[in-house]
This record gives sequence, C-alpha cells and structure tokens, in this order.
Amino acid sequence: MDQRKVLVTSALPYANGPIHLGHLAGAYLPADIFVRFCRLLGREVLYIGGTDEHGVPITITADREGVSPQAVVDRWYADIRDSFQRAGISFDHFSRTSLPIHHQTCQDIFLKLHKKGLLVKKSEKQLYDPARRRFLPDRYVVGTCYHCGYAECSGDQCESCGKPIDPLLLIEPKSKLSGEKPEVRETEHWYLPLDRFQGQLAKWLGTKPHWKENVLNFCNGMLKEGLRERAVTRDLHWGIPVPLPDSEGKVLYVWFDAPIGYISSTREWAAQQGDPELWKTWWWDKDTRLVHFIGKDNIFFHALMFPACLMAYGNYVLPDNVPANEYLNLEGLKFSTSRNFAVWLGDYLDRFAPDPLRYYLCANMPETRDTDFNLREFQAHNNNELADTVGNFINRTLTFIERYYEGRIPERGAASGLDQEMLGRLGRIAGELGGHIDNFRYRAAADTFTEFARFCNKYFNDKAPWEARKSDPASCATTLNVCCQAVYGLSVVMWPIMPFSAENVWTQLGLSTNWKDHPWQQDYAGKLPAGHKLGKIEVLFPKIDDEAIQAQEASYKGGKTAPAVTAEKDELPGVIGIEHFAGVDIRVALVKAAEAVPKSKRLLKLTLDLGPLGERTVAAGIAGHYAPEDLPGRKVLVVANLAPRKVMGITSQGMVMAAVDGEGENEKLALTTIDGAIDLPPGSRVS
Ligand code: MF3
Ligand code: ZN
Repeated sequence: MDQRKVLVTSALPYANGPIHLGHLAGAYLPADIFVRFCRLLGREVLYIGGTDEHGVPITITADREGVSPQAVVDRWYADIRDSFQRAGISFDHFSRTSLPIHHQTCQDIFLKLHKKGLLVKKSEKQLYDPARRRFLPDRYVVGTCYHCGYAECSGDQCESCGKPIDPLLLIEPKSKLSGEKPEVRETEHWYLPLDRFQGQLAKWLGTKPHWKENVLNFCNGMLKEGLRERAVTRDLHWGIPVPLPDSEGKVLYVWFDAPIGYISSTREWAAQQGDPELWKTWWWDKDTRLVHFIGKDNIFFHALMFPACLMAYGNYVLPDNVPANEYLNLEGLKFSTSRNFAVWLGDYLDRFAPDPLRYYLCANMPETRDTDFNLREFQAHNNNELADTVGNFINRTLTFIERYYEGRIPERGAASGLDQEMLGRLGRIAGELGGHIDNFRYRAAADTFTEFARFCNKYFNDKAPWEARKSDPASCATTLNVCCQAVYGLSVVMWPIMPFSAENVWTQLGLSTNWKDHPWQQDYAGKLPAGHKLGKIEVLFPKIDDEAIQAQEASYKGGKTAPAVTAEKDELPGVIGIEHFAGVDIRVALVKAAEAVPKSKRLLKLTLDLGPLGERTVAAGIAGHYAPEDLPGRKVLVVANLAPRKVMGITSQGMVMAAVDGEGENEKLALTTIDGAIDLPPGSRVS
C-alpha cells in the first residue's frame, strides 16, 4: 500500500445552519473512516476542516433573521464543530474562514495571481435589483436552469445538474430580495481565465484514471464543453476585501476563498503546533497525497477551479484524489434545510449513539449513486447486524470467559481444522477490509466487517463450547482463546467505522483505549496472552425500539408529505402545498418585556426570547387588547423567519400571531398563546 503522507480535507460546510445526515454521509464520515484507517496503518496523516463563513448563503440567512452575518457564523460555527465532535469526526484542525489568517492567505494568493497577469479585469453586465439598489450575485437570484430546466436554479450553480451558471442566462430570473425581475447593469470584476488552463487541467486529469467515475465523467464533460473564465470577485459587503486599489464594496467570490480555507486551516494548525512554517511540509511537498472529500455538487470547484488556482500560483500540490459522493436522500426525497426536512445530526445524537449511524451510513454510502436514509432500515441494521451479530459474538465470548474462566483468557491448545480456518480469516481481515477503505469502497468495507462477525458467530456455534466445556475442556479453552483474539481483531478493524464502540471493546478486553496501541494488520491472533484479565463487560449495541424511531421520525414529518400535496395544488386556486407552509417558521416565544410605543395606539413593543434563535424585538398591533404589564412571562407564537420591517421607528423581527375578528373599534383579538400547556421551551417549533 502507498505509504506516502496524506493530507485529507472535508468540504467546509457553510456556517448558516446545522449539519444533517446528508452532509455527514457526503463528505465527513467517509473522510473520517479513511483518516482513522490511515492512522492505524501508521501513515502520516493530517485531517483538515473548518466552516465556510462567507458568501451569499450566509448573508441571506442574516438578512432573514435580522442579525449580522458575523452573528450567524459565530452561532453555527460552534454548533457544527460540536456536532462533528460528538459524531466522532476526528479533524486534526477545524478552523473558520472569517479569521484574519484566512483573509491574509486569500489576499496573498489573489495578489500573486494578479501579479502573474492571471486575473483579468472586465466590465460586465450583472443582475441588479432596483428596488433594493443592490447587485444580485450568486444565490441572490433564482430562475430556471438553461442547462437542464430546473426551476429553482441559483445564480451560481444549478443544484440539479451541478453545472456552473451564468446568471445572465437564467430563464425568468427573480431577485431573492424583492421577488422582482432584475435589471442588467454594468460592474467591474476580476476574472480567472479558466480557458487558459484547459490544456494543463486536461493533461493533469489524464493522469487520474483511478478516480471515481462520477468525478471523471463530470470533469470530462466540462472540458468537452470548454472551460470559460469565471468571475472571482463580487459586489458584496460580507467577505474578503479585494486587496487592490479602487475595489470599494468588492469582495472575493466565496468559491475563490473557501477552498483556500484548507490551506489557512493548515497554517493555523501549524502555528498552534509551535512551528508556523510546518504547513509547507504538507502543501508544498510533492510527496503529499492531497485528498478532498466532497459531495457531488462541489466537483467543479475541487477538480477544476481550485486546482487551476494552485497551478497558477505554483509550489502547491494538486489533489491526488477527489472521491466525491452522490447524495443521501431522506426516505426518497432530498434533504432540505429550508423546509426543515432533514435528520439533523445534533438531534439524532440527542437520541442515539453515533456508531450505529456511522455503521449504517457506511453500509449505505452514496458512493456511486444516490442512496436513501430510512429510519426503519437504520433500526434493522442496528438490531440485526450490530446487536445480534457483532455485539452478540463479542458478548457471548466475554461472558463465557467471565463465567467459566474467572475472566482470564484460557490457554490455546492444538488447533483443529475449524480453529485454523478461524485463525486464517483473522489473519486476512485487516488486509481485505483495509483494501476497501483505501479505495473508498465503504459499502464493501461494512459488508466485509459484518460478514467476518457472522463467521465468528458460526465458529462459536460450530465449536459449541458450552458442550465441550464438559466433554473436551482443552478444545473449549482453545475456542475461547481464539474467539478472544477474534474479538480483538474485530475491534481494531471496527475503529475507523465505529470508534466509540471499538474503544469500548478495548476497555472490556482490559486493554488501553489509545488507538496508537492498536496498529492495523498486526498478528491479531497473538495479541492476548493466556491469563490476561478482561475488564468490565457490558452490552455493546443495545437494541433500538420502535418508539425511539417514531420520535425521531416525528422531528421531520412536517415536510415529508410535500410532493404528494404539491401535485394537487395547481388545480385548486388559493390552495398551497405543504412546502409553502413548511417554509413558515413558527416558534414559541417567551415575552420578556412589553412597552407602549410612543404616539401609537395600536402597537406594543415586545422583547421576546426564542431560545436558540436568541432575543427578538417585535412590534405587535395588540395595544388596545393587552396591557403591557400583563404580557411578560406568557408564551406566544411568532413567525420567526419574516424579513425584518421598520414600524414606527422599531425594527420588528417577526410577527406575533393572534386570532382576530372585526376591525377598528369592533376588533376582537386574542393572542395565540400556549400558556398552561406542557412546558415547551422558547424556540420550540410549531408545525
Ligand atoms: N460551503 C460549500 C458547500 O457547502 C463547500 C465549500 S468546500 C470548500 O457547498 F472547498 F470550498 F471549502
Ligand atoms: Zn441545471
């Protein structure tokens, strides 16, 4: 196997919302499994990550919530980092692109390319929203894709066909800010002439016949169409300022800056190691294997645009591989952050252990085609393969030893044919499974693992130690000795996929829980000497019952019926699909304070606590019906994702819901409250 050192990256997720299982399966779990495997194998490996904190997705969230982009990214950076940590995604460093070290790295690279004459300044037509007096870069505009006809296509890239988009060519474009049709205006930007790199890129890709077919197909398709120059600056106020004179109001394009985040994250890591130059031994050493784990929508940027930037700069290694995954869907539909149709990683981890999920996603990895996340299937994998097969073998072995050998591993005597077969398998498992992981064949890795556990159970059954204990004690002792070595072998090859459980097994075996003490591919058969004392035994994989599954299901059921209803809605004027309703974020809010608004008969100014969404100020037209002092402590319902509005000098960040009848003098109004109901915390969703 190739023992060169490996620099592994996972796509930097936008810091504008939580991580869901689609993200996890796409770019993080496969990377983590690979990295952990490399570690046990003794390869020098560095695993780099961070959050992507610029770009339009962030400013759109900030606009919607009426807070600053910095507040958005601060909140989600911490949330994302913690979710990854709880899921066992073992980054060596997890940084963020709003840090000065990143801004400086990007500006350096931009200036070097500029100096080499590899950036072209052009005045270009751009979409502009006259109502909001702003240019509409990237996702600020939606329309119909001119490649594939997808109707919700963003101005930067089509979510459906994955191709980069020239917003001027979008069919029936609309501003996301005002919903209006944009105008076209001139503005100046810097362009990376990708067309000039076409030959170099094609030649380089020609040396990568071992890449995944989905990645090569995409790249070859793009090359065949011919690469075009790409603007690398934008008219925005959030991002990395263009480091050139006369660039007021212009920032680097997020897809220019984000991949450089891998470099700046490594620089930050190096500084924290006490050797600020150390990053160069990774990025500037041609013996480094650079591997980018991404989802399929990121292929263009990682396999063409970023490599072109690195080529343009010189010095840097180019990716050795870009093992992009297809998508993981949720019960047949796309995960959707905006419709809240997702299993959020943090939510999942509040209910279940990380390892059964890691195992299920590994076995069901969207390697070559989209796959489906299904909670029932997840439950079945846990209960049948992990609990009844893997866990069962480990547990029956260890409890047998505890019961009949006082918890000490018995002597191994002469090996029978069955014993030899078992030992032979044990000698091969690391090589076989490792070969799969090393080639990004995760599904095969999971199968090989479980198949081996099945064989272990069969060995235990065939040897029937519960009978041999009386009839042939020496054979019984040998069986249990061999089973223990197999438990150990299983635990080591388990670690990349299920690290928490592997460490648990090490504890049960009375061994160190430090992975450095458990190298890949040693002689597992000889690890545990006779007489070795086991640790405390416990069930490794508890079964998951139907109730737990139903509770998790309920967390996304709101969006689940979307397509069925959408199909009917066109025929019925005034009827909306559930996806429209699901787009309205209604939350429970605790009234912290209420005060009259000067010169207004109708309005009260409320200060609301929305739990994880923070505090909000809302102007509510309820003054004639409620006295301010009656409101604090009550829980009301609020539409939390309305664009902020100014009313009577107050910036109102939401709408309090009330039932109303009549108008003016005759108006009757009652706030919809959930007072007296079970104690729902502020921020709870209403659906
Ligand atoms: N934030 C991007 C996304 O979620 C991925 C950025 S990957 C990086 O699609 F290379 F640019 F960092
Ligand atoms: Zn398309």
